[in-house]
Amino acid sequence: MKIITVIASPQKYGNCSTIVKEMTKGIQENNGENTIYYVDDMNIKPCQGCKACRNPKKPSKCIINDDFRKIMDEMEKSDALIFAAPNYFGEINAQGHIFMDRFYSMTKSTPNQLKGDKKAVIIFTYGAKTGTYDEYIHKRARLFESIGLKVHEILSVGDGKPLSGNSEELLEKARQIGREISVKRNDEEYEIIRILRSKDRVLRAEIMSDELKKKITKLEMKRLDEMVPVINKGLKQAFDEKEAIAVVIDNTDVDVSIEEYTPSLTLQSNKGTIIGEEIYDPDELEELKHNPNVYFISDYFATYPNLSVPGEKQFFVVSKLEGELDYEDELKNSVSRMVISSPSTEADHYIKKILNIPQKEKITTLIIGFTE
Ligand SMILES: Cc1cc2nc3c(=O)[nH]c(=O)nc-3n(C[C@H](O)[C@H](O)[C@H](O)COP(=O)(O)O)c2cc1C
Repeated sequence: MKIITVIASPQKYGNCSTIVKEMTKGIQENNGENTIYYVDDMNIKPCQGCKACRNPKKPSKCIINDDFRKIMDEMEKSDALIFAAPNYFGEINAQGHIFMDRFYSMTKSTPNQLKGDKKAVIIFTYGAKTGTYDEYIHKRARLFESIGLKVHEILSVGDGKPLSGNSEELLEKARQIGREISVKRNDEEYEIIRILRSKDRVLRAEIMSDELKKKITKLEMKRLDEMVPVINKGLKQAFDEKEAIAVVIDNTDVDVSIEEYTPSLTLQSNKGTIIGEEIYDPDELEELKHNPNVYFISDYFATYPNLSVPGEKQFFVVSKLEGELDYEDELKNSVSRMVISSPSTEADHYIKKILNIPQKEKITTLIIGFTE
């Protein structure tokens, strides 16, 4: 599970940081990952009230180009947000307010509200007696609900704890919250998995572990050492999404005509020029086969030697797949973002091996990245 934490206190060893440190231990016990950001170290402006995010004609993401965009991107890909702020003069401190100001661009009146079942944990620390600011912080927590998060827990911690000591109970509570928000979801809880598993030719659809993703990335990297390097851009895009699914499809009894193939491989120069591409359209193929400026390196891969400039590097690029599955729209509708990619033969064999699937040519693997 992927969690991000935003700490509004500028103090790296203060009360907020100490509680977050313990929460992180709980997250790590479940093999979750917590990325911590300090607002004070980032370039984040308060909301400018321009309302571009709720323009009725073309609502956009927040148009201020600063580090909040990065945090917003991370939030979209995370399972939970932990927010920790100290009390300065009876309220969340200034850094916390600046960060929360920008939630304006993520409420229901914008297209940017967070989707999926994401949790929020709010930590508020202060010097006064524990409980003094419960009402205040519960009110502020509503803002987190307004951007699509489900508040899992509010830790309202006073008495200068935990640095003042006597806080083992509190720190254990922090670790426990960390464990709770990082419990791995059952695969079947994802609608996209349920849809995939209901399809006839899908033998397996499994959420990929981080280790498996790393292994597959490593296998893909090996292709960079080939004579003409192969860059699997589609797979990278899929892995950039919050989760990835290894989908094994059995095409044994299916005769897919060449015309239905979707091109995904191109030969490019380092300047971005397309020097070669897959062609499956019969008319286009016929025409190109008679073109003296076109050279076919295989039955369906045309290259354009005229566009090749001496000295420029060339590499194959594998793009994401579009129109690969009949039920692609159904899958897309179950998530907010989705990328279908095709792994290398070696990665395909590896996935089939660990899933105990026979190594047959007509049984192929796809990797689908998605963010709920
Ligand atoms: C500028 C400033 C103002 C503060 N105002 C209050 C306050 O009004 N009420 C309170 O209970 N504590 C107040 N405190 C104490 C802090 O809220 C408390 O020490 C908090 O746990 C600090 O968190 P940190 O160590 O993560 O920075 C204040 C501290 C500072 C530095």
